[in-house]
Amino acid sequence: MTKTFINIGRLIQVRESGTNILRGAMMADVPTIENAWMAVENGLISSYGSMDDFAASAATEIIDLNGRMVCPTFVDSHTHLVFAEDRDEEFVMKIKGMDYQSIAEAGGGILNSARKLQKMSLSELTERASLRLQEAIGSGTGAIEIKSGYGLSMEAEIKMLQVVNQLAQQFPIPIKATFLGAHAFPDKDKEKYMSSLIQEMLPEIYSQQLADYIDCFCEEGYYTVEQMSRILEAGEKFDLRAKVHVNQFNSIGGIEKAIEYNALTVDHLEVLSESEINLLKDSDTIPVALPGCSFFIRIPYTPGRKIIDSGLPLVIASDFNPGSAPSFNLSLANSLAAVNMGLLPEEAFNATTYNAAYALELENEVGSITEGKRANFIVAKAGKNLNSISYNFGVDWIDRVYINGELFS
Ligand code: NIG
Ligand code: FE
Repeated sequence: MTKTFINIGRLIQVRESGTNILRGAMMADVPTIENAWMAVENGLISSYGSMDDFAASAATEIIDLNGRMVCPTFVDSHTHLVFAEDRDEEFVMKIKGMDYQSIAEAGGGILNSARKLQKMSLSELTERASLRLQEAIGSGTGAIEIKSGYGLSMEAEIKMLQVVNQLAQQFPIPIKATFLGAHAFPDKDKEKYMSSLIQEMLPEIYSQQLADYIDCFCEEGYYTVEQMSRILEAGEKFDLRAKVHVNQFNSIGGIEKAIEYNALTVDHLEVLSESEINLLKDSDTIPVALPGCSFFIRIPYTPGRKIIDSGLPLVIASDFNPGSAPSFNLSLANSLAAVNMGLLPEEAFNATTYNAAYALELENEVGSITEGKRANFIVAKAGKNLNSISYNFGVDWIDRVYINGELFS
């Protein structure tokens, strides 16, 4: 049966289908209908309009929202949601003064997560990841990308991607899987791991259809530009488009190389030069900022203001992971982007909804209130507006979340 939501104080992010990714000054606009209604049919948004023109029909269930705001759910285009254990002890080491790289050298970091994940069963990992995903959806996330990369062996990388695929079957939201075998090197023999990744893992992942994208952590002490290039080259042969970790601590040429491979996104960019911004302007590659990571490990914020002012599109994601960003809360990411990157609440919201959908090639399914898109939306608490998302940092402004038109609980 059709459901109609009436007396929506503000219906936020209402867009015609077929609009392009928002870039530059366009990001400051969030189209809104005041005092609106919205109808849902078969889990999709079927129509909407102003209450002034509303005519009730008998064949619909009416849900009165009493003036509350409705907006589309967030899209989280970059997470590492599958992992074995939190790394809160490293957090304490950080407070005591150690930095990210020295913690990694002292046996923490990505290899710490890999050791724990390798020992954990597929079902236990799935159970733990499910609890996190359940909570992430409750915090407003209505589509998500999840990476492997804490396996670092053929068996464990496949296991991680199988977990992601199980989550995709269990949960009612779109889930994209990214193969991040190139997250770190498991031991000193880098060439051996490179050939296992390219010659064993990739063909197996392709034959089981376990991934949508390929990722690589291109950084000093991790993967060189040349190694990333070999990995993206191999990924291309298996139809995996690139979404890569670049310029987190150092600029070593990863952006240029990623653009050469027509990467869908380049993520992190805490270190970003004028000439790299210009390279992005001449490409179809989308810049993604991860303000939760900057906040948590106390590194510079991606120059989001500069990116937008140069006319580029911007996406913001959580980077949810146990090491550098243990929060999947995209409302908080909105606050961090506003306060520390100088984004307007509208820009931060567009970066975590409409534009983020493009970063996962889900622009026809989620990211706005549009006829034919999934009815994945948030009902705000009374008195909350678009500014509240960034303004009330760390405060839960969400009353309820609907996924495919159904109340999510
Ligand atoms: O995106 N930078 C690389 N990977 C993650 C951190 C992974 C970890 O510390 O476990 C990131 O920040
Ligand atoms: Fe990441």
